[in-house]
Amino acid sequence: METVNAALAVDLPDDPPWQDVQVREYLAETMPGERRISWVAEDDRVAEGEGRIFGHVSMLLLGDIGVLDVLVRPDLRRRGLGSQLVAFAARRAYLEGFSSIGVEAIGGTSAIAFYEALGFNKEYVETRSVLCLDAVDWPALGDMSTGIGPGYRIEFHPGGPPEALLEPYAQAKLEAQDDDDDDLDLAPRSSDPQRLRDSLNTLHKRGLKPYIVLAIHESSGTVAGLTEVVVPAQHPERADQYDTIVVREHRGYGIDRAIKARMLFELRAAEPGLREVQTWNAQHNESMLKVNAELGYEADRDWYEYGADVAHLVQTLEHIH
Ligand SMILES: CC(C)(COP(=O)(O)OP(=O)(O)OC[C@H]1O[C@@H](n2cnc3c(N)ncnc32)[C@H](O)[C@@H]1OP(=O)(O)O)[C@@H](O)C(=O)NCCC(=O)NCCS
Repeated sequence: METVNAALAVDLPDDPPWQDVQVREYLAETMPGERRISWVAEDDRVAEGEGRIFGHVSMLLLGDIGVLDVLVRPDLRRRGLGSQLVAFAARRAYLEGFSSIGVEAIGGTSAIAFYEALGFNKEYVETRSVLCLDAVDWPALGDMSTGIGPGYRIEFHPGGPPEALLEPYAQAKLEAQDDDDDDLDLAPRSSDPQRLRDSLNTLHKRGLKPYIVLAIHESSGTVAGLTEVVVPAQHPERADQYDTIVVREHRGYGIDRAIKARMLFELRAAEPGLREVQTWNAQHNESMLKVNAELGYEADRDWYEYGADVAHLVQTLEHIH
């Protein structure tokens, strides 16, 4: 955690530092069927586990790809440590038969030049936006939260959707999946009820508390829209917006605005320590960007997904030991 905070202070100085709450669980718990392998670089002049952590790499193995997270202490960068950590992970992925490696790199940090130097390709870009609750126009938000077409009901579910709604909830996610398959899917959506149940359990175990607002189409009982926000125990001042989906046939009735506005009211009441919410959007997703701007989100920085072929990466890093 101390290493993460040292990096945050340099790379993302406006992000809240981590607290020592469920950090082990955050790093160790995965969805069933997924594995995460982590390595740390430590000071070899002191006994194992007693010195500072110089750097860290973790690799989440899902499907046929390994998703990396690499971090080197700011005072120890440009000495080859980052490359060494990637080499360890890439060799392991290669030995286990994985075909590609993906990683998120944050615009405006050294990670961009680093992954490009290692031969990774830029595959996808999103913009992160941040909303400060202090700056929200609450009366305007009140109008948005009620400005929804007739025939829809809005529901709030802290902790996740109730069991009886898992099936229609998964169905709404499944329909949305076809809409944007240009996303690399480093975090695939949970689009069947069992996977959704597993995903909610995993979030809870990792200290990530989900909040859900749904729009129910009353005559059919289907989920017409949903929005998900997660409050991490590690930095409860800043929540993460996950999926927001309005099923195609229910678009144009104010659902996107209404569910997001309702969510902000609920979060304000449920999480007194919360100050900001962050969200990631594809730059072509104009209608969602417009609604986010109305709510008060401000663009922060670009967030990239880079990818590399495992065999090629192992070869590039061959000289590193
Ligand atoms: C990206 C990161 C892991 C690189 O670690 P590192 O130990 O400095 O990497 P290396 O020394 O192995 O660098 C390898 C090559 O990458 C390139 N590179 C790395 N950092 C660079 C920079 N700041 N500018 C230009 N090129 C850079 C260089 O080509 C370098 O080779 P060189 O030093 O011989 O020129 C490190 O900067 C880091 O932890 N960044 C964190 C970014 C982040 O995500 N922060 C937010 C979350 S807390």
